[in-house]
Amino acid sequence: MDYILQRHPYVDDALYNQRRHRISGLVKEYHANPTVAPIIEYTEAENQIWRALLKRLKPLHKKYASRMYLEGFKKLHFTPDEIPELRDVSDKLECICGFKLIPIEGFVDSRSFLSCLRNHCMLCTQYVRHFSKPFFSDEPDIIHELLGHTPFFTNPEMVGLYETIGRLAYEADSGRLVAIERLAWFTMEAGLIEEDGKLKVMGTAILSSIGELKHCASDQVEKRPFVMDEVVNTSFDPYQMQPKLFFVHSIAGLRNEIERYFN
Ligand SMILES: [Fe+2]
Repeated sequence: MDYILQRHPYVDDALYNQRRHRISGLVKEYHANPTVAPIIEYTEAENQIWRALLKRLKPLHKKYASRMYLEGFKKLHFTPDEIPELRDVSDKLECICGFKLIPIEGFVDSRSFLSCLRNHCMLCTQYVRHFSKPFFSDEPDIIHELLGHTPFFTNPEMVGLYETIGRLAYEADSGRLVAIERLAWFTMEAGLIEEDGKLKVMGTAILSSIGELKHCASDQVEKRPFVMDEVVNTSFDPYQMQPKLFFVHSIAGLRNEIERYFN
């Protein structure tokens, strides 16, 4: 697999940079000899971010998160005081739904990231966001991976959806890949689902951000029914609060629409 380690936005913070390099080195060692994912001994400062975020996200999740997220979250029994180790969460997921988490150093290209999902694997970062922005991360970090993505990997229907998206990304030419990236963004990362007549959040980028959850609940966000033609022609900026989101009625219906459109 081709890993692209980008310059992170806090590269001028020497201490933070050192920490990122330390974690990155452990991940490199793992890929040279991929047996078990590295254990990261998270610092008190890093665990504090986890605790603060978890405490503030819980009531928001209760109010806005989709049922499948809440059910998945319960199954994972996250430690409230310390950031759970990726390999422990991966072991739990493997027992529940056969899903595995694979450590990576940082960003990878979208094809590599999405393609992995077809094999029921997700590439996950292990570093923690910069302390200056505890409630919003510019990049995916371990907290986004755990609090955003992992609860969905306990749900067979969602695992099926990710498998479909992963297969499409793997097979796509570069033109079609843009459509798949938008599909993935407006479902996995920033999607909504209708439950009992209410719109609930299933997008992991929203579920792992306090600001985005509150923004999403406001009337500043345009919420449109999911129509594939419109979704694949809508661009997005992951670094901004989302101005427009799409909602699906069910995961089965979404998968049918994806298959029909791309096949
Ligand atoms: Fe994500």
